[in-house]
Amino acid sequence: MDLPDNVHVLPQTIAVQALMDRLRNTFTESDQFRATALRLGRLVASSAVDEQPCEDGVIRTPVEETRGLRFTKSVALVPILRAGNALVDPFCELLPNPRVWHVGMSRDHETHRPSVYMNAIPKRDIGGMTCFILDPMCATGGSAVEAVRLLRERGAKSIVFAGIVGAPEGVAHFQEACPDVPVYLAVLDRCLNENAYILPGLGDFGDRYYNSF
Ligand code: PRP
Ligand code: URA
Repeated sequence: MDLPDNVHVLPQTIAVQALMDRLRNTFTESDQFRATALRLGRLVASSAVDEQPCEDGVIRTPVEETRGLRFTKSVALVPILRAGNALVDPFCELLPNPRVWHVGMSRDHETHRPSVYMNAIPKRDIGGMTCFILDPMCATGGSAVEAVRLLRERGAKSIVFAGIVGAPEGVAHFQEACPDVPVYLAVLDRCLNENAYILPGLGDFGDRYYNSF
């Protein structure tokens, strides 16, 4: 698949492949699954944050003042529950005091359409902020598109999507619906199966992360 300019997939280094193999492996238990998701989330977060607008700032070290970088815009993280919670810590480690606005969605098993059961995006104009939608899995892309819709309803202009695994169908759907929203992923997989699960994928991220079988 030829990737549009604003779809960014991590370079498939040995480290990324080793982490992905561990995440995919059905015998990886929940504690290792969480630790591995955190490692991959940090890599995706740093590639997404690297593109954020910055300006020169001043930093005071214990011995002098020096030049440093400051993020120009304030930031909100919008994790799509449940799985998106896995990406909150990696982004919080990099960004200064982000707001976290949870959005709860679950996919209908038959239609594969998301339904929103929670929306903590504040009811005020958020047009000046950068909003990072966090969801490790972009399968049909329906949840990601719905999250963009909820943010735009509140005036968001600068939106970024960050995940771990994308399906080509879902990324294409998302790009068509939201061409101005850059996408950051660890890996782009082969396709979806008849149940809209990603192949080879890793199964149900939320169930594996929370050991909620
Ligand atoms: C999963 C996943 C994404 C969504 C992706 O959520 O965590 O949010 O599906 O699918 P899509 O791209 O086809 O919309 P799920 O409904 O399983 O909820 P969970 O995170 O609570 O497990
Ligand atoms: N959600 C998941 O957790 N896994 C998939 O493969 C698709 C949607």
